Amino acid sequence: MHTAPPSASSAKTAATRLPIEPSILYFGTPVVLLSTENEDGSFNLAPMSSAWALGQTVVIGLGREGQTAYNLGSRPDLVISLPAPAQWAAVERLAPLTGRNPVPATKAEGCRFEPDKFAAAGLTAEPSHLVRPPRVAECPIQLEARAERVRPDVSGEFVIVETLVHKVHADPRVVVPGTDHIDPAAWSPLIYNFRHYFGLGPELGRSYRSRTPGGGHGASAQSPVNT
Ligand SMILES: Cc1cc2nc3c(=O)[nH]c(=O)nc-3n(C[C@H](O)[C@H](O)[C@H](O)COP(=O)(O)O)c2cc1C
Repeated sequence: MHTAPPSASSAKTAATRLPIEPSILYFGTPVVLLSTENEDGSFNLAPMSSAWALGQTVVIGLGREGQTAYNLGSRPDLVISLPAPAQWAAVERLAPLTGRNPVPATKAEGCRFEPDKFAAAGLTAEPSHLVRPPRVAECPIQLEARAERVRPDVSGEFVIVETLVHKVHADPRVVVPGTDHIDPAAWSPLIYNFRHYFGLGPELGRSYRSRTPGGGHGASAQSPVNT
């Protein structure tokens, strides 16, 4: 059953918060599909939600023993393809698969080796322009990138990968015509929200930093914060 989220005013006046110990902290980040090159020249594809952008840098968090981390440690080329909400079922078909053989003991129960994850997910590999791994043709936005730094995280379970994006491909339907702007009203990421998939709801407003021409259909908050 769905319950309505607390409104801003009730959240302000709430006296308490429950101290809880959730097993994971996936608080709602976009899903990306990472294409990387295997040792034998074939390609791996894996869904990740620990990804965020800063300028042309995209930082990704990966399980240390997965095939993607292994590949990026030796072969830095990758493609970061961004699925739309409609592609969630294809993403979920990739969830129990690894390109690593034998399957590491640290992988989730039920995880199995799959050498051709594009076929297993029903997704199409499309050649990239600058890097060796292919793009996911069905994804409306695809970023060709190179891993510049791969290092362990503080827990030792993961690696943090800093990538630099060198080329962006976008479906014309999510681009403001005649510009380089993604139209935020036309594009929605696929959000991984505590292991459940969501799209975006209607727009709430736009940042004063937005440069989308005529874009944005919500109110401006007139925020004075310079971020
Ligand atoms: C939607 C979704 C998001 C995921 N996000 C991450 C993530 O951010 N980091 C990670 O290490 N694994 C993540 N996983 C799990 C990996 O996809 C999984 O471990 C997969 O086996 C990795 O494949 P590989 O071993 O071939 O690299 C996610 C899985 C799904 C379905």
